[in-house]
Amino acid sequence: MITDERIASFINSFNSDYDDTVTAIRKEAEDSGVPIIRAEAGEFIKLLMMIKKPKQILEIGAAVGFSAIFMSRFLIDGGHITTIENYEPRIAAAKKNIIRAGAADAITLLEGDAHDILPTLTGDTYDMIFMDAAKGQYSSFFSEAIKLLKKEGILICDNVLQDGDVLESRYAVTRRNRTIHERMREYLNEIKRNTDLETAILNIGDGMSLSIKKQ
Ligand SMILES: C[S@@+](CC[C@H](N)C(=O)[O-])C[C@H]1O[C@@H](n2cnc3c(N)ncnc32)[C@H](O)[C@@H]1O
Repeated sequence: MITDERIASFINSFNSDYDDTVTAIRKEAEDSGVPIIRAEAGEFIKLLMMIKKPKQILEIGAAVGFSAIFMSRFLIDGGHITTIENYEPRIAAAKKNIIRAGAADAITLLEGDAHDILPTLTGDTYDMIFMDAAKGQYSSFFSEAIKLLKKEGILICDNVLQDGDVLESRYAVTRRNRTIHERMREYLNEIKRNTDLETAILNIGDGMSLSIKKQ
């Protein structure tokens, strides 16, 4: 973890999930090694939702549905979340969790590879996009994601600092992680340089970027 583990634990001692079902789904995901948003990242997203009041949210990377269910608790009336997942066992778990959390009306789960699904969605639709899929693929989702985002919509990307690896020289990173390291650096450059966006890179959780699509 990039932030000292003790600081994160201290911050999270003030945080709690919205309700018992959300807490239970978090625990099950963590116990079975499914990567889900960290509590402090959830707090940040919650506050952004309360400020921005997004009506249409798109998530890339549902896993077992935890973050979509968590976000559904802070949706405004008539708000909706569309989330995408391509890994069959997680799709099945997400479906079950969404029903169990009473969130079936608020969340649509699209099954398949986001590379295939994103071009089929209607552009200029989403007030908020949460990118939380394979880290090495962010760049390949980016141009479609930007088309789908409304003006003044926000794009949040999780895990952009890769447990601190992204800071290191490529030679200090294990060979296995070098491609992701290189791609994530390129991606951060891409979103910072894109003139349609204003972007901040934040040391929250595993690193998050927050962008707004300019008018
Ligand atoms: C970090 S997890 C998502 C966690 C989830 N957002 C949460 O916090 O509860 C990333 C998920 O993205 C999925 N994924 C990766 N690449 C994908 C792709 N190209 N299309 C759809 N899903 C993808 C993985 O199978 C994995 O379940």
